[in-house]
Amino acid sequence: ETKPVVAKPVQLDEEFEDSSVKRVTVFFGTQTGTAEGFAKAIAEEAKSRYDSSSVVFKVVDLDDYGADDEQYEHFNKVAKKVDEALTQQGAQRIVEVGLGDDDQSIEDDFTAWKEKLWPELDGLLTTEDAPTTPHAPYQAAVAEYRLVTYEPGTKLYVEEYAAKKNGQAVYDALHPCRADVAFVKELHKPLSDRSCTHLEFGIANTGLSYETGDHVGVYVENSQEDVEEAAKHLGYPLDTIFSLHVDAEEGQLLSGSLPPPFPGPLLLETALRRYADLLSPPRKSVLSVLAAFASDPEEAERLKHLASLLGKEEYTKWVVASQRSLIEVIAAFPSVKLPLGVLFACVAPRLQPRFYSISSSPKFSPTRIHVTCALVYGPSPTGRIHRGVCSTWMKNARSKDTYGADDCSWAPIFVRQSNFKLPADSTIPIVMVGPGTGLAPFRGFLQERAMLQESGSTLGPAKFFFGCRTRTQDFIYEEELNAFVEKGITELTVAFSREGPRKEYVQDKMLEQAGEVWKLIREGGYLYVCGDAKGMARDVHRMLHTIVQQEEGVTSSEAEAVVKKLSLDGRYQRDVW
Ligand code: 2AM
Repeated sequence: ETKPVVAKPVQLDEEFEDSSVKRVTVFFGTQTGTAEGFAKAIAEEAKSRYDSSSVVFKVVDLDDYGADDEQYEHFNKVAKKVDEALTQQGAQRIVEVGLGDDDQSIEDDFTAWKEKLWPELDGLLTTEDAPTTPHAPYQAAVAEYRLVTYEPGTKLYVEEYAAKKNGQAVYDALHPCRADVAFVKELHKPLSDRSCTHLEFGIANTGLSYETGDHVGVYVENSQEDVEEAAKHLGYPLDTIFSLHVDAEEGQLLSGSLPPPFPGPLLLETALRRYADLLSPPRKSVLSVLAAFASDPEEAERLKHLASLLGKEEYTKWVVASQRSLIEVIAAFPSVKLPLGVLFACVAPRLQPRFYSISSSPKFSPTRIHVTCALVYGPSPTGRIHRGVCSTWMKNARSKDTYGADDCSWAPIFVRQSNFKLPADSTIPIVMVGPGTGLAPFRGFLQERAMLQESGSTLGPAKFFFGCRTRTQDFIYEEELNAFVEKGITELTVAFSREGPRKEYVQDKMLEQAGEVWKLIREGGYLYVCGDAKGMARDVHRMLHTIVQQEEGVTSSEAEAVVKKLSLDGRYQRDVW
């Protein structure tokens, strides 16, 4: 968890040797694009601050430095580690590390940090010969790609999905693999008013491989409905053909030095469907960009207010708490006429891949990656029906088994390795806790154990705690699980939360079997928990404390130390979201 970030020697551009030009590199590490947006914002502001012939800002993705050991999942750890590593190597810190918290307002955190940054940079970057205008009221620059439009009928760019290095297929988030949807089925039973999809991606002959417990990243598309709605409010026909460019034209502000987010020429319809996050609530910086393009002064004022520090409460209420989508916000300000070069530079964030715990084992299913995905569907606070982008896509996907190779759905996918792994020795006992779709990786575990058993390996004891509402609605994979039990692959305990007079959850069942559960773990067994982080995993974690205290007869803090040790030893593993 605390892998050191090793600062690799950075290959500096040759131009860096020209010492009359002052160069500032803004590094960012990002998973969702937030940090990328902030890095670009700094580079943009710098342009209106310094003379570009003597001061050059460059924006660089840390990923390009091959620091692939970095873990973004630990809050701000990367920033702290990079700061530490740079300091150790003799770098001089000009302003303290700013730590942004996305649960609060990360943009306000960023603004506060920037206010400390500029005076320091001004001191370093300006001279009497080349003064800046540090005291001039700062006007936010709007990043924009240069747009080229094309005649109808222009040949469109077709994206390739075959990444190869030394003849070997290499796939990652930037080089996904095109995978057909081989099979889809509904997992909930007819009485359920919700939906959960079992989907299989075909990976035969792609070079893509995976291990039990890994995650699959899926790039999906917005629904046709959302794409049409967005184009309508933006005021452009869906069949507009365009491409985006960064090469400078007189008087035009450009989006850092980063390449356009997608190649062209492309139909607007395709660009909106594949690359634009249309349903997330827009950030404050987006609202100030919209303000710059509102022809109605009242609309511009309201947008500026929402984006300001003063408008913080209203922004929180009207945008964040209301889960108002980008489309809804644009629809609420009809006088805004947004150039497409601006839309894709700084208004619509790039649609992010969704990650799922793979629900199969390659030993059992070498040519297919299985996904178990609950449908996200329901009214948002504004009354819009919110349909989760990926889960809706999966539910409606057309399988190759039914529609054939030419007519089936496909998606760019890649595999992300995880540490959520079975013990190397199959005789070691395991306890698995995974209600709902938290079942996913355990289905893979059980498939793997079944294959091991078939090939003659001895299996240690296994317990699986599954939870769902009722047997007749959402007891997913019921027959498969029963078959695993019959073959002695696992014991199974199911907590039905809405069958009896009172709720029963997986942790209640664990407590009922506390003696047995703790005996297995005590003897060297592994405990795995998968599913919802804030509710279930937190409650199961507390229950584990209770069980340790009760079974070992120790104090609460002693129990805490025991649990901590388990976790450090890799014997208490969590795959939670
Ligand atoms: P509920 O929706 O009836 O409250 C899968 O989603 C199962 O997990 C459901 O039976 C759900 O019950 C249950 N669940 C909800 N919150 C939980 C929690 N904090 N701990 C354990 N299980 C929970």
